[in-house]
Amino acid sequence: MIELFSSKKFSGSITIPSDKSISHRSAILNAVAFGEARISNFSNGNDCLSTLNVLSNLGVNIEIENKNEFLNLKIIGNGFEGLTKPKTLLDAGNSGTTTRLMSGILASLNFETTITGDKSLNSRPMKRIIDPLSLMGAKIVSNENKAPLTFKPSQLDGINFDMNISSAQVKSCIMLAGLNSQSKTTISQPSLSRDHTERMLKGMDAKIKTNELDIIIEPSKLNSVDLTIPGDISSASFWMVAAMIHPDSNITLKNVGMNPLRTGIIDVLKMMGGEITIEDERIEANEPVANINVRSSNLKGVEISGEIIPKLIDEIPIIIIAASIANGTTIIKNAEELRFKETDRLLAMSKFLKKSKIEHSLYDDGIKISGNGEFIGGEFDAYDDHRIAMSVAISSIIAKNKTIINDHEVASISYKNFYRHLKELKI
Ligand code: S3P
Repeated sequence: MIELFSSKKFSGSITIPSDKSISHRSAILNAVAFGEARISNFSNGNDCLSTLNVLSNLGVNIEIENKNEFLNLKIIGNGFEGLTKPKTLLDAGNSGTTTRLMSGILASLNFETTITGDKSLNSRPMKRIIDPLSLMGAKIVSNENKAPLTFKPSQLDGINFDMNISSAQVKSCIMLAGLNSQSKTTISQPSLSRDHTERMLKGMDAKIKTNELDIIIEPSKLNSVDLTIPGDISSASFWMVAAMIHPDSNITLKNVGMNPLRTGIIDVLKMMGGEITIEDERIEANEPVANINVRSSNLKGVEISGEIIPKLIDEIPIIIIAASIANGTTIIKNAEELRFKETDRLLAMSKFLKKSKIEHSLYDDGIKISGNGEFIGGEFDAYDDHRIAMSVAISSIIAKNKTIINDHEVASISYKNFYRHLKELKI
């Protein structure tokens, strides 16, 4: 439990923690590549530690050096055939990305494995990966398409797969399975989602071609690659909204990953009238990176729907915080995927808004919010979801009364030092 209070000023500069999605991929892909990879600034969030734990359990040689806010890794990969039968169940903790990406690897191994996780993870939908993997020839045992998932030894064939949801986890799972199968795989996406896997695979000499919504991948041997992981724009988004809703703020966020399929949050905040400047743009690990300056802003309501949704799917809880303070109405549509995250994020945010007396209507695929310009504080649950905890915490910086978050520690799933950074920026 944590008690949080408003602050007179909100200012300073922080280095954003490492990108979760890129960290997962850097470890998984190098584990099945050939050679020795050095990965700098790997995320120390619990989700990425779950990925390292699963890979170590599969016999991958990983050396970890702790560097304050980051980890530096040395990974020695010996291809898919270098993986060995684990002694225990593979524990993915709370991490959907670990489970879905690793499933793409486990499906083609010549020994049996079982991957499982915590209560939240074991209630999330896995049919979306079980279906394409089974079409490729994987033998998967599950209870009602939920984890634990048991993979029997299988040899896979390529498939032509039309995805019916836009999901980077699902497409990455199929791509990973395609790498260790016997023929070419083609994936068609309904709309673009984050392309970190495609970028990294290209840098590791995989036989992969991308053409707008289509991905073609052939069985390939990967060469390991050294990487420096950029900061996570999803973590930066909490501070962007904090600075915008606070009346006396000016903050700089350093080393933020600016992959164009992740920057929907910046487009929306600019549309809302947010004062935001992008500085010092550069490329790291084949990904664009920049510093971002954000200041107090007069926000207005907007409509958010369609193809931008996958580009800001993880940022919707914090956009709801911004919308609560904005002038006018914000409508978010086509975001039904939020109901299948670590918790049902639409419902969790609706419960927060209700307690905060902010007028809103909840729909199956979205929410309509009438901004009223203030938060009253109170006692809230994060429903074991890191992004809900951090969104509620941001509301506290301008709330009239104290804000209590019961399960606040869950923020460390993606952001170990979140509350320390919050304290540093509140002056
Ligand atoms: C992720 C993809 C998204 C996102 C998740 C991370 C990834 O999930 O919400 O936090 O690293 O591929 P979906 O693929 O389910 O949309």
